Amino acid sequence: MSELEANLRLLQEKYQASGQDMNSYLQGLMHSNYLTYWDYIHLDTLLTLQKPKTSFPDEQIFILYHQITELYFKLSLNELEQLPARGGDADFLLQRIKRLTAYFSALTHSFQIMIDGMEPEQFLQFRMALLPASGFQSAQYRMIELRATPLHNLVQFELRSQISSDAPVQELLHNIYWGRGAAELSSGNKTLTLRQFEEKYGAEFLKLAEEVKGKTLYEMYLDLPESDRQRPEIIEAMRTFDRQVNIDWPLMHYKSAVRYLKREPEDIAATGGTNWQKYLPPKNQFRIFFPELWSIEERETWGRPH
Ligand code: HEM
Repeated sequence: MSELEANLRLLQEKYQASGQDMNSYLQGLMHSNYLTYWDYIHLDTLLTLQKPKTSFPDEQIFILYHQITELYFKLSLNELEQLPARGGDADFLLQRIKRLTAYFSALTHSFQIMIDGMEPEQFLQFRMALLPASGFQSAQYRMIELRATPLHNLVQFELRSQISSDAPVQELLHNIYWGRGAAELSSGNKTLTLRQFEEKYGAEFLKLAEEVKGKTLYEMYLDLPESDRQRPEIIEAMRTFDRQVNIDWPLMHYKSAVRYLKREPEDIAATGGTNWQKYLPPKNQFRIFFPELWSIEERETWGRPH
């Protein structure tokens, strides 16, 4: 039997199995067009998704770079979402952590585009047209965290030792670092940015937190047999990912806030209205996905230069 005949037979079996007539599908093939690159990746749509609020040319950079970052976040979630189904498979875990690290490494390095890549005079003007929106409202960023580590590790640092790791998901989520951190400078009340964010995504976060309980990346690692858990390349990959997401990227991001918003004697208010100088530096947040993979000293000096 020729290759063509063999393929036709396989196709026939496929269509028969679902009660379909293969000949009709072959006729359809006669009329269908070849796939193009631009249709496949929806390029025209992609390139029309930038809708500046002002006519400052650098606003394009700001929009595009946020969109690029969100796509990397999506790549990261694509990996994290696959992990629970492959529990116990150490090589798979290692390979996927390396992918995650590659994404965050790309983001950390490219953040220079934000730090040096816009004229401060333009930025300080177009940002006023974006109030009260803030990257703070990135749901994918929070979903990466929820899938990476047990919720207790994301509780605001000052409250972490007072709240049990077995506390109900709702209570842990109520005390999550970003919910507590985004308070208005003047009154201490929740910022509008935070209230809008919680309104839109609160229920989704709660559902996700319940769903991934016991199945986060860290727990996937902890459930591995002792011999796998001790593999130096796995430990190193986990630590690198933790450092990338919780120190390297936040430091680059913080640098951009300093570059545009730091002004003597008084700093410029953030679009999200937070006390950003206190809130953003990783050394104040103590966000650590995999605490037991770091020494006590490393944890205590988290986010500080070594
Ligand atoms: C010039 C560039 C940027 C500046 C000046 C800046 C400034 C800020 C500030 C001040 C905050 C604190 C929340 C607030 O009050 O708004 C914040 C939070 C945040 N921004 Fe940016 N940002 C910049 C670029 C980006 C980009 C490109 C992303 C990518 C998505 C991003 C994602 C975030 C996230 C995820 C948070 C929350 C961080 C946390 O809760 O620890 N930002 N940003």
